[in-house]
Amino acid sequence: MADKKARLTVDGESIDLPVYSPTVGPDVVDVAKLISLGYFTYDPGYVSTVSCESAITYIDGEAGVLRHRGYSIEQLAEQSSFLEVCYLLIYGRLPNDDQFADFQSAIQSEQVIDDYLMSVLSSFPRNAHPMGVMCSLVGAMSAHYHDEIDINDPECRQTTAIRLIAKVPMLAAMTLRHGRNQEFVPPAPNRGYAENFLHMMFSESESDSVSPILANAMDRIFLLHADHEQNASTSTVRLVGSTDANPYACIAAGIAALWGPSHGGANEAVLQMLEEIGDPSKIDAYLKMAKDPNNPIRIMGFGHRVYKNYDPRAKVLQATYREVLGLLGIQSDPTLQMARDLERVALSDDYFIQRRLYPNVDFYSGIILKALGIPTSMFTVIFVVGRTPGWIAQWNEMISKGYKIGRPRQLYTGDVIREYPQD
Ligand code: ACO
Repeated sequence: MADKKARLTVDGESIDLPVYSPTVGPDVVDVAKLISLGYFTYDPGYVSTVSCESAITYIDGEAGVLRHRGYSIEQLAEQSSFLEVCYLLIYGRLPNDDQFADFQSAIQSEQVIDDYLMSVLSSFPRNAHPMGVMCSLVGAMSAHYHDEIDINDPECRQTTAIRLIAKVPMLAAMTLRHGRNQEFVPPAPNRGYAENFLHMMFSESESDSVSPILANAMDRIFLLHADHEQNASTSTVRLVGSTDANPYACIAAGIAALWGPSHGGANEAVLQMLEEIGDPSKIDAYLKMAKDPNNPIRIMGFGHRVYKNYDPRAKVLQATYREVLGLLGIQSDPTLQMARDLERVALSDDYFIQRRLYPNVDFYSGIILKALGIPTSMFTVIFVVGRTPGWIAQWNEMISKGYKIGRPRQLYTGDVIREYPQD
């Protein structure tokens, strides 16, 4: 399998390690054999570590490239809907008309919420954080769908995928409405996926209409978040899945990982940061704090572990951001104006230029979501809806290919051995 070899020499002893070439991207040195020489490898944060083989998503962070199954994110955003991208991620190809119609009707048939989920939801106080609620609701699905699940059966995995894509947006909308003490509005079969989502979130009655521009913006936000190879939440889903855990429990774990402000929680943190800055005249002082190595403050929505060039999703969202703000006529909203000022000042600042810190997708998605009237505490929940097909496609790929339980090692720095104190 490997034509190339890498030779590692430690204390005069050498070992040849196989080097694999991916279809595109950097070669990969297989270090698994190192244990036979008594060595582990050390890579906190997994900055150079490949954890799995995957054929779903490719990222070149230096060049600002993101592709799903070989298609560029720009083309997908231009020509496909979110549901088509869901199909692409899960089945590996774009659907033809018949396949898409079948996929849509399978999703529609799963758009029902069972009583047990209603009871779990109703047990939460109105002010519960929506991400905690989502984590619990999807966790509750693992309790409900357990005995019948055979993760080694491809059909069962597909039902799981469809069920999650169908129900997660409903749970998200119900979570919002529960917080507002409003009745749930069910999805309508004649509405598109994103349109239905906005309908379930905001409609007063079944006949309320949703602006196509806003539905498209929502669809695009879902699409741009659909998958992002082995990020923290996806790696969490794979790690939990590697123990053969229930797939709904794996997705609940992914939701927990996504919640953090260094990951999916960043779009919520962007708005909180803008509110904290409060006034454009305070941007310089805030930037100064973010640049101070002794101050933990960071400019939320800036920087990315992988993209050391512009995040291609942020570029696509810039256009949507202008469209939505134009439609809603909110060019003069002070928070949005401040976001623009902050972006302009940070992009011309040497600190950000030298560290190649650019706005990421969350910088713009947070601003668009605010314009759509979505409360800040729901932002990461929107990310959950978008990322669900990616998590489930990655889990499905892992289970179908064969895998080992994920079990990293450590660089132990504790006491070697201590005598237990006698009296
Ligand atoms: N504001 C100010 N300084 C920053 C920022 C930021 N947002 N991001 C990185 N830096 C600085 C670091 O302090 C460090 O400076 P130094 O070289 O002087 O020590 C340098 O840039 C490199 O930063 P790292 O922490 O090594 O970058 P890493 O790849 O580990 O972190 C991360 C990436 C977590 C995304 C970081 O940029 C960050 O915290 N950004 C803000 C949160 C955010 O927007 N997260 C969303 C990520 S996208 C997503 O999940 C969809």
